[in-house]
Amino acid sequence: MIVLVGFMGAGKTTVGRLLAAKLAVPFSDSDHVIEARAGKPVRQIFADDGEPAFRQLEHDVIADLLAKNEDIVLALGGGAAVHEGTRANLAHSKVPVVYLKVSYAEALRRVGGDRDRPMLARPDVAQVYAERDPRYALAATVTVDADDKTPEELVLGILASLQ
Ligand code: S3P
Repeated sequence: MIVLVGFMGAGKTTVGRLLAAKLAVPFSDSDHVIEARAGKPVRQIFADDGEPAFRQLEHDVIADLLAKNEDIVLALGGGAAVHEGTRANLAHSKVPVVYLKVSYAEALRRVGGDRDRPMLARPDVAQVYAERDPRYALAATVTVDADDKTPEELVLGILASLQ
């Protein structure tokens, strides 16, 4: 298993799919597993149940995926690695964790107007970014700069750094 973490818009899904294809393993995304378990989109979980309920579900889903440790590439939602318990589970699992590091400006340029991402509607999203950056770095075994590279270049960089 290879895990990808990073802020919204870092390219976790795009790069994760490409990396999985290159390795000929399945791609999975914690948000999709959460949505399947909850029976509704992330946006709706935030609206109906609130962020703390989403974070609990996110933690539980990722704990289950790590326990299974299947041969997959797994992208985590942008807030997942902020959870201390999830970071502890990642460390304990010993799987490679890649931090796709995107600048705040580039992240906003890519996903700024997306209404399906409730965290982007927060007035303090810049602060959220600033608080998360060191936590992604803590969770990661490898950090890759994702601002000025194509997904293909990022995949090659990830594969090289994991060797
Ligand atoms: C979130 C990021 C989203 C999703 C949810 C919360 C966050 O995933 O998990 O909207 O807190 O940054 P992506 O990083 O895939 O957009």
